[in-house]
Amino acid sequence: MHGNGATSSYERFAEEVHRLAGERRAVVLAHNYELPWIQDVADHVGDSLALSRIAARSDAEVIVFCGVHFMAETAKILSPDKTVLLPVLEAGCSLAETVTAEDVRAYRAEHPGAFVVSYVNTSAAVKAESDLCCTSANAVEVVASLPEDAEILFLPDFFLGEHVARESGRHLDLWMGECHVHAAIEPRSLVEKVKANPKATLFIHPECGCTSTALHLLDRGELPAERTRVLSTGAMVEAARELGGGSALVATETGILHQLERANPEGHFTAVNPGAVCRYMKMTTPERLLQALTDLVHPIEVEEGIRRRAERAVQAMIAIGSPSAAGE
Ligand code: 13P
Ligand code: SF4
Repeated sequence: MHGNGATSSYERFAEEVHRLAGERRAVVLAHNYELPWIQDVADHVGDSLALSRIAARSDAEVIVFCGVHFMAETAKILSPDKTVLLPVLEAGCSLAETVTAEDVRAYRAEHPGAFVVSYVNTSAAVKAESDLCCTSANAVEVVASLPEDAEILFLPDFFLGEHVARESGRHLDLWMGECHVHAAIEPRSLVEKVKANPKATLFIHPECGCTSTALHLLDRGELPAERTRVLSTGAMVEAARELGGGSALVATETGILHQLERANPEGHFTAVNPGAVCRYMKMTTPERLLQALTDLVHPIEVEEGIRRRAERAVQAMIAIGSPSAAGE
C-alpha cells in the first residue's frame, strides 16, 4: 500500500510511532479525514462519534488525537484524568468557530425553556451551555429523544440541521453556521457527477451544501432512492464494504476516500468535489505526530466548571443512537 521506496520510510515511521506510544502508554486516534499515513498508523480510525466512544472507554494514559481541536477537547471532557494531546494546536474548525457560548446564552434569554442541541463540532464552552450534543451519526435520534412539543435550537450547522428537521419531522430553530469545506460541495457538482456516473451510489455527508438539493431531487424521483444515502463518515466506510465492485460518488472531505478504498479495494470511489480538503485535518503530518509523542505536546485542558457541564451533554451524545448511522 505504501509502495516500494515509500514502504521503508512509512515502516520506519510506523515503528517509531508504535515504540513511542508503547513507552508513553498512549493510544493514537485518527479521524477519517486525516492524511493516509496518519490513518494507517493510528490504533483507531473513525468518525467523531466512534472516536469519542473509544476515547471514553480507553485505559491508555495518553490519548493522541489526530484530528481537530474540538475533538481533543471532547476526549478531555470525557477523560479528565488522562493526558489528551492534539499534535497541532492550530488545527481548528471553521464550523465550530461560528458560535460562541455567549450566543447560546443570548438565545436562551430570548427562548426560556427551549432545548439546545449542539453538534459535536463546537467548543467545550458551547457544549457546557447545551442540553445535548450529537454527531452526524446520531443527530436524528438525539432530536427525536426530546419531547414532541419542545422548542429546539439546533446548532451550528445549517445543512445538517435541515436534514435532521426533515428526518425527525420536528421544527428546529437553525443556527446559520456552515463548514467551509462541506458548504463548497455544491448542488451543481453533485448533479454533474450524477449525470456522468448514472449507476453510482451516492454517499452524502449531511454537512454538505448539496444535501437539501439531493433530498429534493430524491423526492422528485430524479435521484435513485435505493442508491442515495446520507451518512456520517463512519457509516460511509460500512456502506463501502457492501458495494462490491460497484462505484460511489462521495460528498464529503476527500480524506475519507483512503478509508473507503481500504474497506473495499474492489470498489470505485469518486469525490463529488475533489477540492473538498480540510486544511486543519491535514496539519497533522507524520513529523507532528512523532513530535507529539516525543514531547507530549500539546496537552488540552478544559476548565473544570465548563468540563462538568459539557460532560452531561456529551455523555448523552455517546449514549444515544447507533454506532454510525446518520439518520437512515
Ligand atoms: P463525522 O466524522 O462525525 O461524520 O463528521 C465529519 C466532520 O466534519 C468532522 O469534522
Ligand atoms: Fe471543521 Fe469542516 Fe474541517 Fe470538519 S471538515 S473539521 S467541519 S472545517
